Amino acid sequence: MSAEQDYFIMVTDHEGVEHKLAAVEGWRVMEIIRDHGLAIKAECGGACACATCHVYVDDEWTGRLFEPRDEELERLDDAFEVEDSSRLSCQLLFNPELNGLKLTLAPSDL
Ligand code: FES
Repeated sequence: MSAEQDYFIMVTDHEGVEHKLAAVEGWRVMEIIRDHGLAIKAECGGACACATCHVYVDDEWTGRLFEPRDEELERLDDAFEVEDSSRLSCQLLFNPELNGLKLTLAPSDL
Protein backbone atom coordinates (compact mmCIF):
# COMPACT_ATOMS: atom_id res chain seq x y z
CA MET A 1 0.00 0.00 0.00
CA SER A 2 1.45 3.38 -0.94
CA ALA A 3 1.45 6.50 1.20
CA GLU A 4 -0.91 8.06 -1.33
CA GLN A 5 -3.70 6.03 0.20
CA ASP A 6 -3.51 8.22 3.27
CA TYR A 7 -4.16 11.52 1.53
CA PHE A 8 -7.60 12.99 1.92
CA ILE A 9 -9.70 16.11 1.58
CA MET A 10 -12.79 17.10 3.57
CA VAL A 11 -15.73 18.26 1.48
CA THR A 12 -19.05 19.60 2.75
CA ASP A 13 -21.87 18.94 0.30
CA HIS A 14 -25.01 20.96 -0.48
CA GLU A 15 -26.85 19.34 2.44
CA GLY A 16 -24.15 20.37 4.89
CA VAL A 17 -22.80 16.83 5.23
CA GLU A 18 -19.04 16.57 5.51
CA HIS A 19 -17.27 13.82 3.55
CA LYS A 20 -13.73 12.55 3.94
CA LEU A 21 -12.53 11.73 0.43
CA ALA A 22 -9.39 9.80 -0.41
CA ALA A 23 -7.18 12.03 -2.56
CA VAL A 24 -4.57 11.20 -5.17
CA GLU A 25 -1.51 13.31 -5.88
CA GLY A 26 -1.70 14.98 -9.27
CA TRP A 27 -5.48 14.81 -9.54
CA ARG A 28 -7.54 17.96 -9.78
CA VAL A 29 -9.59 18.51 -6.62
CA MET A 30 -12.66 18.62 -8.87
CA GLU A 31 -11.84 15.11 -10.13
CA ILE A 32 -11.50 13.81 -6.59
CA ILE A 33 -14.91 15.22 -5.66
CA ARG A 34 -16.55 13.89 -8.83
CA ASP A 35 -14.90 10.49 -8.53
CA HIS A 36 -16.51 10.03 -5.14
CA GLY A 37 -19.94 10.79 -6.57
CA LEU A 38 -20.57 14.12 -4.88
CA ALA A 39 -22.85 16.57 -6.68
CA ILE A 40 -20.47 18.74 -8.62
CA LYS A 41 -21.29 19.61 -12.20
CA ALA A 42 -17.88 20.48 -13.61
CA GLU A 43 -19.47 20.81 -17.02
CA CYS A 44 -16.34 21.70 -18.96
CA GLY A 45 -14.37 18.82 -17.51
CA GLY A 46 -11.66 21.00 -16.03
CA ALA A 47 -10.96 23.41 -18.87
CA CYS A 48 -11.63 26.47 -16.69
CA ALA A 49 -14.55 27.36 -18.95
CA CYS A 50 -17.72 26.82 -16.92
CA ALA A 51 -17.29 27.76 -13.23
CA THR A 52 -19.58 24.88 -12.20
CA CYS A 53 -16.82 23.38 -10.07
CA HIS A 54 -16.98 26.37 -7.71
CA VAL A 55 -16.05 25.65 -4.08
CA TYR A 56 -15.38 27.65 -0.93
CA VAL A 57 -12.04 26.95 0.71
CA ASP A 58 -12.01 26.79 4.49
CA ASP A 59 -10.44 29.85 6.15
CA GLU A 60 -7.48 27.92 7.51
CA TRP A 61 -6.57 26.87 3.96
CA THR A 62 -7.10 30.00 1.89
CA GLY A 63 -3.58 31.33 2.48
CA ARG A 64 -1.98 27.94 1.86
CA LEU A 65 -3.11 27.54 -1.73
CA PHE A 66 -1.28 28.98 -4.71
CA GLU A 67 -2.83 32.15 -6.08
CA PRO A 68 -5.49 31.79 -8.76
CA ARG A 69 -4.41 32.53 -12.31
CA ASP A 70 -6.13 35.31 -14.27
CA GLU A 71 -8.11 32.72 -16.18
CA GLU A 72 -9.57 31.32 -12.97
CA LEU A 73 -10.41 34.78 -11.64
CA GLU A 74 -12.15 35.70 -14.89
CA ARG A 75 -14.21 32.53 -14.79
CA LEU A 76 -15.12 33.12 -11.15
CA ASP A 77 -16.61 36.42 -12.28
CA ASP A 78 -19.27 34.34 -14.02
CA ALA A 79 -20.05 32.23 -10.96
CA PHE A 80 -22.87 32.81 -8.46
CA GLU A 81 -22.41 33.75 -4.81
CA VAL A 82 -18.67 34.29 -5.10
CA GLU A 83 -16.82 34.96 -1.85
CA ASP A 84 -13.22 35.72 -0.94
CA SER A 85 -12.69 32.02 -0.35
CA SER A 86 -14.07 31.00 -3.75
CA ARG A 87 -11.95 28.84 -6.04
CA LEU A 88 -12.54 26.64 -9.03
CA SER A 89 -11.76 23.14 -7.88
CA CYS A 90 -10.60 22.06 -11.34
CA GLN A 91 -7.75 24.53 -11.03
CA LEU A 92 -6.52 23.06 -7.73
CA LEU A 93 -4.08 20.24 -8.29
CA PHE A 94 -3.87 18.00 -5.29
CA ASN A 95 -0.42 17.53 -3.79
CA PRO A 96 0.71 16.27 -0.39
CA GLU A 97 0.81 19.81 1.01
CA LEU A 98 -2.95 19.93 0.54
CA ASN A 99 -3.55 16.84 2.63
CA GLY A 100 -6.61 17.52 4.78
CA LEU A 101 -7.81 20.43 2.62
CA LYS A 102 -11.31 21.54 3.64
CA LEU A 103 -13.85 22.76 1.12
CA THR A 104 -17.55 23.41 0.78
CA LEU A 105 -19.40 22.95 -2.49
CA ALA A 106 -20.85 26.25 -3.70
CA PRO A 107 -24.60 26.37 -4.38
CA SER A 108 -25.61 25.19 -7.82
CA ASP A 109 -28.83 24.63 -9.71
CA LEU A 110 -28.44 20.86 -9.65
S1 FES B 1 -14.85 22.25 -14.39
FE1 FES B 1 -15.38 23.93 -15.65
S2 FES B 1 -14.31 25.58 -14.75
FE2 FES B 1 -13.82 23.90 -13.50
